[in-house]
Amino acid sequence: MDKKITIAIDGFSSTGKSTVARRLAKELEYIYVDTGAMYRAVTLYMMRKLFVSDGNFDKEAIVRHLPFISLHFEFDEELGYGHMFLNNENVEKEIRYMEVSQHVSKVSAVPEVRKMLVKQQQEMGKNRGVVMDGRDIGTVVFPDAELKLFMTASTEKRAQRRYDELKGRGDEVNFEQVLQNVKDRDYMDSTRDDSPLVMADDAIEFDNSEMGLDEQFDKIVKITKDKIKEV
Ligand code: DC
Repeated sequence: MDKKITIAIDGFSSTGKSTVARRLAKELEYIYVDTGAMYRAVTLYMMRKLFVSDGNFDKEAIVRHLPFISLHFEFDEELGYGHMFLNNENVEKEIRYMEVSQHVSKVSAVPEVRKMLVKQQQEMGKNRGVVMDGRDIGTVVFPDAELKLFMTASTEKRAQRRYDELKGRGDEVNFEQVLQNVKDRDYMDSTRDDSPLVMADDAIEFDNSEMGLDEQFDKIVKITKDKIKEV
């Protein structure tokens, strides 16, 4: 049997990381971990407590409340991927709301939040056979991952994809707002002090601005299978 490897997929928001990662995990029969969902769930918890809002960011309260948060994924057969549970409540839908997207970069810049989630992610992937996507997987969570992909696409393309996704779900959004959110998050995610989004030296850069889903997937499957043969 093929050796199971660790696959780290990093990149800016809305580069289609999760779609590719999910499909790849299914193809290989690996576990898929959406680490963005974990940062989003922590953010949602803090928003509900009002520690994070438009005019407020109570870092001390955030850190104090971390021990009260429990996260897990539950696989949904019909959808084919794991839903995010926050303290045993399914929050998969709510964590994708625009309000959460607007606050998540601030919460995920708190070192104590990162420390807690990185530890959980390392635990989830310790047996290999995992596809994990995020911002720091190839640099911090699994620096020894056998395969690291760094996904990129132009800002406008990414905003358009995100806009289509939100609209498709029936959310009331305007394109300018989505574009601004993508730009703000790019800036915050790549300039924060703790584990900023950077491409690992040994990552393969993958620009999918001009690629459809199937083409992208076929290329990535090929890269992955070659890598599995090589290790
Ligand atoms: O992948 P996403 O857009 O759902 O991620 C949401 C936010 O979480 C993103 O703006 C940055 C943060 N994040 C992070 O800091 N580190 C990760 N490994 C994954 C996400």
